Amino acid sequence: MKNPEVVIVLAAGEGTRMKSALPKVLHPIAGRTILGHVLAAATPLVGGELRVVIGAHKDLVQAHLSEIAPSATAVYQAERNGTGHAVQLALAGAPTTGSVLILAGDTPLLTTQTLEEFFDVHNANKSAASVLTADLPDPTGYGRIVRDDEGAISRIVEERDANDEERAISEINTGVYLFDNGALREAAAKLSKDNSQGELYLTDVIALIKAAGKVALAIGSTDFTETLGINDRSQLAECAAIMRDRINDRVMKTGVTIVDPTTTWIDIDVKIESDVTIHPGSVLAGKTTVATGAVIGPRTTLTDVIVSAGAKVVESTCTESEIGSDATVGPYSFLRPGTKLAAKAKVGAYVEVKNSTIGVGSKVPHLSYVGDATIGSGTNIGAATIFVNYDGVEKHQTIVGDEVRIGSDTMLVAPVSIGDGAYTAAGSVITEDVPAGSIGVARAKQRNVLGWVLRKRAGSSSAEAAKRAGAVERE
Ligand code: UD1
Ligand code: CA
Repeated sequence: MKNPEVVIVLAAGEGTRMKSALPKVLHPIAGRTILGHVLAAATPLVGGELRVVIGAHKDLVQAHLSEIAPSATAVYQAERNGTGHAVQLALAGAPTTGSVLILAGDTPLLTTQTLEEFFDVHNANKSAASVLTADLPDPTGYGRIVRDDEGAISRIVEERDANDEERAISEINTGVYLFDNGALREAAAKLSKDNSQGELYLTDVIALIKAAGKVALAIGSTDFTETLGINDRSQLAECAAIMRDRINDRVMKTGVTIVDPTTTWIDIDVKIESDVTIHPGSVLAGKTTVATGAVIGPRTTLTDVIVSAGAKVVESTCTESEIGSDATVGPYSFLRPGTKLAAKAKVGAYVEVKNSTIGVGSKVPHLSYVGDATIGSGTNIGAATIFVNYDGVEKHQTIVGDEVRIGSDTMLVAPVSIGDGAYTAAGSVITEDVPAGSIGVARAKQRNVLGWVLRKRAGSSSAEAAKRAGAVERE
């Protein structure tokens, strides 16, 4: 059976109940907008044209649409006169044959597979108008499916227009429809605003198509969570949690250990190989990839990070970085954009790295800032070393060679370079290049003023301790 000639996504609503400056359909879930999820489910099924009805926040939604679905046609609904009005506008200028699939832009959990199953039933029954329905534990707010004595759908009644008996119906309209193009056009032209909201209801086409003597079907979905719509922030969180569980289940089926799936948030485009372990409280976002054997977390956030096989990242925040195989990061490391760690490199506790490359097996174990640097292999950067990359106006580069030993508390004032096998003395402020094999020493020579404490701090506990150790007050 051919895919629908026209697919219409309704996304013109205000999303008032979100109380947000951001349009409802642009709120993200698992690294994709709500609208992005709907389009991802629908796009494989578009047989001809994809039309998205936009209205509120038109410019923002349109810009996003051209980014994620450049082949879609945006249809502008200036006044929101209801879902029936939106569909009338979308049909104008669209192909007139085949079938028409209609979806709401605020149901991000719907899957391509469910839509395909829905199509199959529609086609097998030669239906002219099918609506996907669900049995909800709490149907409040949704349109109800009214069935006749034979069990066939006779119409859909909105909550606000329903009587008590109809409100007791738990089968609801999910807002997903498949129509014969001609039958839909004929019925849509007959819609009236004769209802409590004074709008054109798309739902009324069902009764109109039945009245024209054609087949209409209410097709139940097996998983009601797929059809949940988002109208407020609570439903946003509810859908995000369902999406999280869905992604985590998929990931675990491929051989990944997720120690606590309820606190692990993985974006939809993240790729994780088998035998990775993810500890609680971790977020894997954007286009992050994690290779086999890596261990992530606890409490680690990776955004657009490439983690190679066997690497360990503990209690750290990393963005737009590459972590080499068997490298270790954390606890409490901060990798900022442009960080590249080679195989077996180590970035340790309270270390921040930005726009820098750290070579094979090199270590920055404690309390350092590494910015705009290239570090060779087998090098050790002593505790509390700072790469002084910013002169107050511009950023400069530092180059550190292979097998270098940077002494603790060194300031490497860029631009500067340290040759292969060189050392720096602890506490040095290095402003000039250090040639290969040399030691750079740049600090005042130490002098001891003997007996100073006994003279200047006489009677203090320090002076007493010094006396016990045999110190004297001599000049
Ligand atoms: C609608 C259905 C209801 C169904 C529910 C499922 C109607 C009359 N009611 O109600 O039976 O149970 O969806 O979620 O259709 N939109 C436009 N233009 C408009 C009005 C709405 O594009 O003029 C879009 C909205 O952005 C939204 C979708 O259509 O994506 C549904 O509109 P909404 O106002 O949320 O309808 P519901 O009251 O939820
Ligand atoms: Ca809705």
